[in-house]
Amino acid sequence: MSRLVLRGGTLVTAGEVFPADILCENGAITAIAPAGLAAERAKEVDASGAFVFPGAIDPHVHMELPFMGTVSADDFETGTAAGVAGGTTTIIDFVIPARNEAPAAALSAWREKAKKAVSDYTFHMSITGWNDTTSQEMEACVREGVTSFKVFMAYRGAIGIDDTELIQAMRTAARLNSIVLVHAEHGEMIVELQNRFGQEGKLSPRYHALSRPPEVEGEATGRALMIARLTGATAYIVHMTCRESVEALARARAAGQKAYGETCPQYLLLDDTVYDKPDFEGSAYVMSPPIRPLGHESTLWAALRSGVLQVVGTDHCPFTHAQKQMGQSDFRKIPNGAAGVEDRLSLLWTHGVSTGLLEMTQFVDLVSTRPAKIFGLYPRKGSLTVGADADLVVWDPNRPRTISAKTHRHRTDRSIFEGFKVRGGPRTVVLGGRVAFHEGTLDVERGAGRFLARRT
Ligand code: URP
Ligand code: ZN
Ligand code: ZN
Repeated sequence: MSRLVLRGGTLVTAGEVFPADILCENGAITAIAPAGLAAERAKEVDASGAFVFPGAIDPHVHMELPFMGTVSADDFETGTAAGVAGGTTTIIDFVIPARNEAPAAALSAWREKAKKAVSDYTFHMSITGWNDTTSQEMEACVREGVTSFKVFMAYRGAIGIDDTELIQAMRTAARLNSIVLVHAEHGEMIVELQNRFGQEGKLSPRYHALSRPPEVEGEATGRALMIARLTGATAYIVHMTCRESVEALARARAAGQKAYGETCPQYLLLDDTVYDKPDFEGSAYVMSPPIRPLGHESTLWAALRSGVLQVVGTDHCPFTHAQKQMGQSDFRKIPNGAAGVEDRLSLLWTHGVSTGLLEMTQFVDLVSTRPAKIFGLYPRKGSLTVGADADLVVWDPNRPRTISAKTHRHRTDRSIFEGFKVRGGPRTVVLGGRVAFHEGTLDVERGAGRFLARRT
């Protein structure tokens, strides 16, 4: 039997902060002892002076994603390892079938790729078209434990769907008691603006942002929420960036609708001047939706504080500079996405908890407990309870680090947080009762991650 005891830490859950020791046996938490515990023949982890959280869950990542003529640079091994080094012990990736591909075929391709993962993982299934068999295919996904569906209102002509398809997907998801994640941007308006800029020869990265203004996101968020309400579906709006979309979500929630929202560190911490960097460096920030002008971030922070937004994910989707150069002469060809899975917790701690904007309990809720609850993983993940998986983070609140592409574990040569100084990071990360990261050194096993079948 493998036994590990975390001694002397202060436990932080989504609801409480209290000192206790934790005993892990055979991969699960078997005792939580505020008065300390005597554990014989157990490996000891010193958690004194540190906080102990349930391992974080990143519900929005794209490992090895074929996208815009290339493939995102982290695979399931490198991406999950980077996550573990940052305190993320479970990821939820998106299976994205090509427009005419059957979901089942795409799911088996993703299951194969994900066998390399070093930490546990699960999937959302994207609905990229609609035909006579799609609703049965959604049922089959739910039977396999893939209980959430993703739709893209942007990326028209590729993986994006129209409103008729969106209505069908939402109606079916409602019948299956499944949640629908929505990339909310007005696809046609973006294409029109992109074409106009193209005709005018305005092709630098700055025009990526200008072709996707906040109104485009706000309108699509409102429309998605309206369709969810009228079809009875539960909606989760991914990567929210701006005042317009937060207001749409706040209105829906205030009216009693069951709807959730996620934002990401880049939208909380960067502003759109990044697109004016010289030498095509602005391409590193080309993602959708884009980074917004200063001012939107304060709405996002307030929405995290007040509970209008429930989750901070990353939308981890890294590309190298060479990949970004596919769009050197036309922003429309720059692969959309950036890395973040390793940095999420440190950034949110530094800029949220240390500044007093967020309570520690809120922090744990935003990065771990709430995604576990929303996506059917709780209490196995996202909780410090007897019987839960022993995925634990021993968090040193003062650990200093300067984020840089030279030292990060993401497989890309750019960091959108280059030079950011953070304070707070994992001292030790325990995965399934085993120390997988300690004092800057990873000790992970390719293929040790398990697929997590989820409930609706
Ligand atoms: O630019 C982004 N966000 N790339 C990843 C795909 C998506 O839209 O989430
Ligand atoms: Zn998206
Ligand atoms: Zn994404």
